[in-house]
Amino acid sequence: MTPHKVLIFGRGQLGSFYRAHFASLGAAVEAPEGDIRDEAFVSGAVSAADPDLIVNVAAKTNIDWCEMNRAEAFAINTLGADVVAKVAEERGVYLVHVSSGCVQESLTAEVVHTEEDAPHPLCFYSWTKVWAENLLTERAARGTLKTLILRPRQLLSSMVSPRNALVKMLTYAKFIDTPNSCTVVEDLMDATSKLVAKDATGVYNVVNPGVTSPLRIARMLKERLKPEMQFAEISKEELNRMTLAKRIDCVLSTAKLEKEGIVLAPIEERLVDIIAELKHTLESGEADATLRKTEEETREKLALVG
Ligand SMILES: NC(=O)c1ccc[n+]([C@@H]2O[C@H](COP(=O)([O-])OP(=O)(O)OC[C@H]3O[C@@H](n4cnc5c(N)ncnc54)[C@H](OP(=O)(O)O)[C@@H]3O)[C@@H](O)[C@H]2O)c1
Repeated sequence: MTPHKVLIFGRGQLGSFYRAHFASLGAAVEAPEGDIRDEAFVSGAVSAADPDLIVNVAAKTNIDWCEMNRAEAFAINTLGADVVAKVAEERGVYLVHVSSGCVQESLTAEVVHTEEDAPHPLCFYSWTKVWAENLLTERAARGTLKTLILRPRQLLSSMVSPRNALVKMLTYAKFIDTPNSCTVVEDLMDATSKLVAKDATGVYNVVNPGVTSPLRIARMLKERLKPEMQFAEISKEELNRMTLAKRIDCVLSTAKLEKEGIVLAPIEERLVDIIAELKHTLESGEADATLRKTEEETREKLALVG
């Protein structure tokens, strides 16, 4: 289907991208402020917008925060997602729910997970995403919910924002060299509307083909954007001692997406493009405040484990 009226829950990184994306396709887009745990708010927003597509990108996404605030993380990421699904089902509106690829673990680049593999989360945040998927899948199987569940992984973009992993990396000094799938947000936008156009339902991994690693990305950032960047390689064990929630490495199959005719460009090819765009934007003075805020957040994250 071609959505004409899109209602977005979540006003963070992906919320802003989806707003701009669907607006650029000519849809009327609403992204009201409110709490997805509150059914009256969700239901009222759906009545007001009368959408033909709902996109849920509201969640608590700081994995250390989720580790420390489990009940709230569960209430928002899992139960809140189900509130949105319940209202979407009752109103017969197609729902795109953004889950995460970090529900799978790959110890080597050869361990490539399909959508059918059993999830293996390592932190509470990832569990909240698995449970939300389960609730939505159950509603779709037993009821009338029409839902597309997307699993992007490690979002990278050209946007100057503390939420952009590339911007965060500019403030780090230590990197691991473990293979991972990543998703270029600009490509996720395109893949989403192509899947929606096909009325796709069920779970889809949405990552760029191939693998990269945080260390490889850091080297690209140094070479192409920040020559003065100084960093060292550390082991996964060392990284896990520095952060509260355990980081997962995961490599995701793109076969199901490609079967729909949606083929994204390889990750390291796209990184060259988005690093160039990011460099261009960072050269404007407006970026300084964002970088300072990102540095501050990095210091706070490291302080959590002393
Ligand atoms: N970031 C990634 O690398 C990544 C990777 C894979 C999947 N995802 C998934 O993609 C989705 C969007 O991620 P993102 O990067 O856009 O995250 P984000 O920038 O943190 O945006 C999430 C937004 O949801 C809001 N929110 C939190 N609790 C809410 C509630 N109860 N009701 C309504 N809104 C609420 C947050 O507000 P506050 O900031 O005030 O809490 C924030 O504005 C999430 O479901 C996430 O799990 C993210």
